[in-house]
Amino acid sequence: MLSFSSSALGMRSSEIRRLLKIAADPSIISFAGGTPASSLLPADITDEIYNGLSDQTKRAAMQYGPTDGYPPLVAEIKKYMESKGINFDNQDLIVTAGGQQAINLVAKVFLDPGDVAVTESPSFIGALAAFKSYGADTVGVPMDNEGIIISQLLDTLDKTGKKAKILYLTPYFHNPAGITYSVNRKRQLMDALKGRDICVLEDDPYGELYFDSNDKKLTVPLKAAKDQPVQICYAGSFAKIFSPGMRLGWLIATSEIADKCQLAKQSIDACSSSFTQVLAAQFLSQNKLPAYLETLRAAYARRAGIMLDSLKKYMPEGVSWTTPKGGFYIWVTLPQNMDSTVVFNEAFANGAAFVIGSAFDPAGIKNDCLRLAFSSTPEDKIEQGIRIIAEAVRKTMRK
Ligand SMILES: Cc1ncc(COP(=O)(O)O)c(C=O)c1O
Repeated sequence: MLSFSSSALGMRSSEIRRLLKIAADPSIISFAGGTPASSLLPADITDEIYNGLSDQTKRAAMQYGPTDGYPPLVAEIKKYMESKGINFDNQDLIVTAGGQQAINLVAKVFLDPGDVAVTESPSFIGALAAFKSYGADTVGVPMDNEGIIISQLLDTLDKTGKKAKILYLTPYFHNPAGITYSVNRKRQLMDALKGRDICVLEDDPYGELYFDSNDKKLTVPLKAAKDQPVQICYAGSFAKIFSPGMRLGWLIATSEIADKCQLAKQSIDACSSSFTQVLAAQFLSQNKLPAYLETLRAAYARRAGIMLDSLKKYMPEGVSWTTPKGGFYIWVTLPQNMDSTVVFNEAFANGAAFVIGSAFDPAGIKNDCLRLAFSSTPEDKIEQGIRIIAEAVRKTMRK
């Protein structure tokens, strides 16, 4: 008989994979996948970059590279992060296979079975899965519209004590909650963490995707703070600002933590794809990012606007939702005790899909909520999809 490791046995078999698979049906209007719109991916820019490479660089792109990343890309990302206020004294940067690998490496070097990863509730599925894969428990702390609720965070940290090794946060355009931390809440958070022995993992794949340039100031990383009362590891990603298929992200951490992560990465994949690192390095060095971001911000803002208008138009009383200032997501809260799986089944039968709430609950239970991603659905389909989901909510209410 096969005898799987406790890590493999601990991996959450997920309802969500089943839902995502059925939601991939092209006849369904899907708000399920948190993916960029394919039509917006920069295929033309990538063609131009590749065609402009020297033969020597093309060959470097096809070789193995250093574990911590292709040096020109490391230099470009550092420059980019310095422009956001991050200081690299005693800090290192590792290029990773997506933001997901950055999260996984931090989990790997900190978590033993029985440890605790404290997260927001709801939280990103990929991070919850990574923490659980090392045998850790995930304990969620609720949020309001300004971020994690500090009093409840402190209660949780007091209760979990030394077992709590990681505090995982997505402060900007949250997946799935769609909220962004206020400047004040970030300050309170830093104050609250003074003297605590915990590593903050700041996950920031969406920070560039604000809809209104006045909100840019909300996206200054915690990692850029002058006084950091605890260790902060920062995870970045090219998935939402270039292309997820490149599978590139990065981790910034103290040299001590980064060294351990680099050793861990060596045994996983030796190095991230040199090929896509060369493309990403050129994307940054040729200054293609700013104009591309302007296109993305305008397109996602339009989609979010259509979805918000449609929710207002069709959702019955008792349903509430967040109003994102950027990113990909709206989080919908159903009237109490309504089961979003029942709503899903009804909506799906009529041609629309989303992700049920319990997938994002660190405890895997709370299901009176759901996530809508507006990022990849064609603009002319959004209203119809929301009308179908709203009708499914009404029908479930009547049951
Ligand atoms: C909050 C969050 N963190 C990390 C990631 C992972 O991104 P990547 O594709 O770079 O691995 C995602 C992807 O959806 C995400 O939503």
